[in-house]
Amino acid sequence: MIETVASWLQHSTSTVILTGAGMSTESGIPDFRSKAGWWKSVDPRTVATVESLAGNYALFREFYQLRIEALEQAKPHKGHEILASWEQRGLVALVATQNVDGLHQLAGNKDVAELHGNIVTIRCAKCRKPHSKSHFMENAVCTYCMHHLRPNVVLFGEALPQEAWNRTFNTVQSADVVLVIGTSLEVYPVNQLPKMAKGKLVYINLEVGTHTQGFDAMIQGTAGAVLVQLDAFLSR
Ligand code: APR
Repeated sequence: MIETVASWLQHSTSTVILTGAGMSTESGIPDFRSKAGWWKSVDPRTVATVESLAGNYALFREFYQLRIEALEQAKPHKGHEILASWEQRGLVALVATQNVDGLHQLAGNKDVAELHGNIVTIRCAKCRKPHSKSHFMENAVCTYCMHHLRPNVVLFGEALPQEAWNRTFNTVQSADVVLVIGTSLEVYPVNQLPKMAKGKLVYINLEVGTHTQGFDAMIQGTAGAVLVQLDAFLSR
């Protein structure tokens, strides 16, 4: 199956990569829904929400300060580096990610659509003016209007960034190949994107779950190991 997918990639004139939290676990960042995921300790649906931002800011801020702190140690892994090299070699048109850790950009990908925003940049929750990460980590308030600060992450209850969504929606529709890597496809509306694909649809995941009808290929394994195997064929 690896060889088949590699040949699809080789002959593709437009490939889109769609990633989820499973792309970052090998960098030490827990995912959400598998056994060691975040949801075992705290359910993001109770803190990563517009209600929590408005009504329980101390918990909201602590949750994101913890996640930002955890990011300090995280580095892109081999799989991230391979996706960056594929972009440089013209093999990838777009990386669309649900991840908010910025690891694709850190690895060198220039064209990244952050469908759920990111937690590496901060803004005022009211006047939207940008602030530094250290301001947020030191519990500061907005220097312009004294309101609460928050990461530029898409909270449950918020709309996805229009430009990132439109870009991804259009590119997936016209792609020859869409690689879906490290996501449970549990969360709407990103889980609708694979259904828009008209080209070859490939699912690369540790668990081959229930949302995989309509895929042309499914490869069970870690993102890092599978990308290394695919890259070996592409580098021949
Ligand atoms: N390689 C491949 N797959 C992996 C790896 C790995 N190293 N580690 C974990 N996985 C798989 C898990 O088996 C799981 O199916 O990645 C998937 C991660 O799924 P989720 O934890 O649900 O993460 P994700 O799909 O990205 O969640 C979507 O939910 O909480 C919200 O906004 C949050 O963006 C997130 C969204």
